[in-house]
Amino acid sequence: MFIKKLEGAINMDKHHIVAGLDLGTSKVSVVIAEVSPEKKINIIGVGESSSEGMRHGVVINLEKTINSIKTAVHDAQVMAGIEIGPICVAVTGEHIKGMASKGVISIGSRNEGITNADVERVRESAKGIAIPTEREIIHTLTQDFIVDNQPNIVDPVGLMGMRLEAIIYIITGSSLALGNIKKAVERAGLVVDMMVIQSLASSYAVLDSEEMHQGVCLLDIGGGVTNIAIWYGGSLRDIGLVKLGGEAITRDIAMGLATSRTYAEKIKIEKSAAHPSYLDLEEIIEIPGTAGRGPRKINTEKLYDVVEARVEEMLDFSYRRIKRSEYAHNLASGLVVTGGCANLKGILEVGEELFELPMRVGIPTNDLSGMVEAVSSPSFSTCVGLIKYTVMDKEENNVKRIYTSQDTFMDRLKKWISDFF
Ligand SMILES: Nc1ncnc2c1ncn2[C@@H]1O[C@H](COP(=O)(O)OP(=O)(O)OP(=O)(O)O)[C@@H](O)[C@H]1O
Ligand SMILES: [Mg+2]
Repeated sequence: MFIKKLEGAINMDKHHIVAGLDLGTSKVSVVIAEVSPEKKINIIGVGESSSEGMRHGVVINLEKTINSIKTAVHDAQVMAGIEIGPICVAVTGEHIKGMASKGVISIGSRNEGITNADVERVRESAKGIAIPTEREIIHTLTQDFIVDNQPNIVDPVGLMGMRLEAIIYIITGSSLALGNIKKAVERAGLVVDMMVIQSLASSYAVLDSEEMHQGVCLLDIGGGVTNIAIWYGGSLRDIGLVKLGGEAITRDIAMGLATSRTYAEKIKIEKSAAHPSYLDLEEIIEIPGTAGRGPRKINTEKLYDVVEARVEEMLDFSYRRIKRSEYAHNLASGLVVTGGCANLKGILEVGEELFELPMRVGIPTNDLSGMVEAVSSPSFSTCVGLIKYTVMDKEENNVKRIYTSQDTFMDRLKKWISDFF
């Protein structure tokens, strides 16, 4: 199919093209959106390919990762009818850490009160901590301003005060791990515009601002990992990661029922649930045998026992991580579960019983137009969230846009950025 060049496409009616790439353990997905001057998001292209080169957020096979990216990007570009250049990439993994840092400045006695320049100065002061050379900053997010010991100031500009403090949540990752992702994306023919941690992207796709203010925990349960994000007072307060996801359930089914991974994945999706209310436990399922053995018949109850035990354990790891957070008792809006595993029937019942909090499934379809059907699954939360995050530009321009282009892409990137802003 003919693909229009990006350079031509982005100037149409001052609409802009934004693209997001999620390198998951199970799948690589790409979403392309057209953004109007009013910041309305129109989904115009979606691509997906199986992921074989990524594990728990880390590139374990460069060539396979490049091929998965190329396939997903190609499909999304064909659907959109345009070629993309700069792309926003979601990152995750055990190497990503968050840390709150405080900055303090003296304002002195001035009539006009605190200025934008003061806010910038105090943020810089909070960011001025030593980062080990093998790590780099991914995000610097404002959590709080404090004016003369008065905390929870949302916007200090114009207020009178002698002393201004800022708490900045600094999120860093291993330069090596991030560098490998950048290399894979560039070798697939793209430019990394910015990197956004997965739990932040998914949060923007499925949480509403009231939940973010009241206190909410996002659980993005994918194939290989569970990403955790805790929000309170409108700010991201804590992030965590559990190295367990839906693949562990599939593995357990394959082991427990002595069948292949492929069939285990199929019956997990078609026949299983984590809560008995969704099942007829007496129902008989026929399981194909492995290695030349004939098929066997089992009770659904056996499948349920395996799935329920693993889901409970998986959620229990998240529960223990959340309990360690100083915001564990500030979750008035409960939990929102997303990622492919949020499709598993009964996961809400198990979660609500364990956490003793309300829980809902987050599907990333709010405020979108265009090919919404193609992304209306919890497994697209990260990708859609990347688009929303880019469009909302929530980070007060403090995303470290260091992932600029290779020389060959320079002109196109410069043009794209100048058109966008
Ligand atoms: N209907 C369903 N019932 C149960 N599990 C499902 C269903 N649909 C998808 N899954 C599971 O969701 C998982 C994939 O989720 P997702 O696409 O969010 O993962 P990913 O982003 O590739 O991985 P990760 O975020 O861990 O790197 C797989 O284990 C898959 O089996
Ligand atoms: Mg994921």
